[in-house]
Amino acid sequence: MHKNRPSMTARKVALNIVTLGSKEGMDKILPPGLVDSTAEMLVASEAVGPRTIRVARSRRIVYVYEWFDWILPGQFVAFAHRKAFCEHQVRNGIASGASQVLVLGAGYDTMGWRLAPEFPGVNFFEIDHPATARLKARGVESMGRRDNLYLIAEDLGKKKLVDVLRTSESWDKNAKTVIIAEGLVMYLSAEAVNGLFSQCAQIAGAGSLIAFSYIPTGADGRPDAGPWTGLMLWLQKIVGEPWTWSIRPEELGLFLDESGWIHAPELAGTGDMHGVEFYAVAKK
Ligand SMILES: C[S@@+](CC[C@H](N)C(=O)[O-])C[C@H]1O[C@@H](n2cnc3c(N)ncnc32)[C@H](O)[C@@H]1O
Repeated sequence: MHKNRPSMTARKVALNIVTLGSKEGMDKILPPGLVDSTAEMLVASEAVGPRTIRVARSRRIVYVYEWFDWILPGQFVAFAHRKAFCEHQVRNGIASGASQVLVLGAGYDTMGWRLAPEFPGVNFFEIDHPATARLKARGVESMGRRDNLYLIAEDLGKKKLVDVLRTSESWDKNAKTVIIAEGLVMYLSAEAVNGLFSQCAQIAGAGSLIAFSYIPTGADGRPDAGPWTGLMLWLQKIVGEPWTWSIRPEELGLFLDESGWIHAPELAGTGDMHGVEFYAVAKK
């Protein structure tokens, strides 16, 4: 990704969530408070102006997204399922005793900001590329700092996660932790993904979980984004955030095993694809 430019895709996901708030029936899927806090975060971080939010909230934009769904079939609504999946994993993890939550490549996601006051005994950490993390920090500052929410600005393609967390006094590598990597691994190199999962296993205590979304590998060896894969891969490349990693679902168990995790498909809640992504959970 571009070194000094905030993530375009993080902004796109967040605006997509704001628009989903205006689509009928989505309130049953989207976590409570997500839409309004995302809209507020985007403006407070100055990622977009209030006018963009007004447009994003309009019903007409729902139709525009639905029309463009041919490029990534089902992906518009899939973002609601992805947010619900991640929040479900975090809430379940906390209910089972997790005292730390780590969101990798957090973008403008507001889960940590929303859940931190609800769970004062849990420490929430977010890591993102400095260009995006800088804006997010401004947003959190303006919306209200949380004592138990730690924002870390680092490029995970350059610095190892273990080294990043070693510098955080509040991080406890023995604590039961829920790690979220939502819409992240496709942007990293194979080497970075392998390293990241192995390091996630090293920085978290027994009983920890890692929940993530991924794009499956197609028959031609490229990430499979449906019938318009070529166009999508090209678009991602020209916005400077190419998709570089994918995996075949049947190879996931072995990959996780080699990284120090145990694939736990029973915890994912679904083996179905949502849009162009699968969701997965692994335990330690
Ligand atoms: C598609 S966005 C997803 C944002 C968020 N997880 C969500 O779903 O709302 C991908 C995020 O990964 C972050 N990212 C990509 N490469 C990264 C890297 N090398 N180090 C840290 N963060 C990275 C981007 O800055 C961006 O916020």
